Amino acid sequence: MNKLQSFLTRGQDFWQKFYEKKGKKGVAQVAALGLGLLYLQYQVRKHNGWLKKKSVVNEHIFITGGASGIGKNMALRFARLGAKISIVDVNEDALNQVVGQINSLHGEKAAFGVKCDVSDPQSVKNAIKKCIDFHQKKIDILINNAGVVSGKQILENTDAGIARTMNINTTAHHWTVREVLGDMIANKHGHIVTIASIAGWVGVRGLADYCASKFGAVGFDESLRFELRATKSNVKTTCICPYFINTGMFDGAKSKFPLLFPILSENYATTRIVNAVLQDETVVIMPIILNLSIMVKAIFPTCIYDNMMELFGVSESMDHFKGRQQ
Ligand SMILES: NC(=O)c1ccc[n+]([C@@H]2O[C@H](COP(=O)([O-])OP(=O)(O)OC[C@H]3O[C@@H](n4cnc5c(N)ncnc54)[C@H](O)[C@@H]3O)[C@@H](O)[C@H]2O)c1
Repeated sequence: MNKLQSFLTRGQDFWQKFYEKKGKKGVAQVAALGLGLLYLQYQVRKHNGWLKKKSVVNEHIFITGGASGIGKNMALRFARLGAKISIVDVNEDALNQVVGQINSLHGEKAAFGVKCDVSDPQSVKNAIKKCIDFHQKKIDILINNAGVVSGKQILENTDAGIARTMNINTTAHHWTVREVLGDMIANKHGHIVTIASIAGWVGVRGLADYCASKFGAVGFDESLRFELRATKSNVKTTCICPYFINTGMFDGAKSKFPLLFPILSENYATTRIVNAVLQDETVVIMPIILNLSIMVKAIFPTCIYDNMMELFGVSESMDHFKGRQQ
């Protein structure tokens, strides 16, 4: 007790002398530095997945577009963490392979797959019912991951191409969420994850339909979050906004400054997304440096933002886009 008292007295003396010497301004500077360091250590812990994580053991996780890319990787990771996995995708062969892989590793009832086109509300309704029947459990975590990209300039795109991008990348989120949200709210338990993109914050030449759809997905997530906050619901939301990932979807797209804006590896992106879900994060922009582009857009005049995007090569990143070859 004496030790504590002398420690507190010495601390008080130190700050008294500091105040006499540096005045209010000095104290404010130290307080700002302290807060800055606290924020920094929080960000470091969050990015490395060192915050408190929730358990997903026996949680029913439903992933759209889980037959390839980050959807497949998330399914494998969450299965390893003990979750019951449901995957829906239009690619039935790849879907069956992923389900087979998970079941061979974690038991024959670990994963279930249904062919489903997420842009068709009836197909979504049927698939969700089959998955709930299979696992005998309502959906606890919904991951809206299915997505497509046309990579076409506005005048080159087709009516069908534009509608496809919007229906799969944005409108489908309504179909899936409307099927599961009521039960989540009633059970006071659930999590809705939106796999959007940094293209949901920043417009890119050659990605008009994709950007429009991902801006829509970001807006959908934010509106959903506010609806849930208004009723003090326990249902969580997470919106993931990555830069290019090397899954093949954006083959040919280039980063002008790869050291500053690296193309993300599938493995890194999956780890970051899984940690974000387990840590109940709300919005994740990755890599973190891309938060600056949003800040510049919010603070500076448009001409400064536009020149900055051109300087960093963002607007030319799609010039050599090939996309998936099949
Ligand atoms: N790859 C990137 O650079 C990148 C960057 C930012 C965001 N994203 C987003 O991440 C998500 C996953 O992308 P990925 O890179 O793993 O791509 P991917 O092409 O490997 O996976 C997308 C999956 O969605 C499925 N799918 C397409 N249309 C569907 C439909 N109508 N119904 C059901 N499933 C359908 C595909 O069959 C595929 O299995 C997408 O939403 C994408 O927009 C990707």
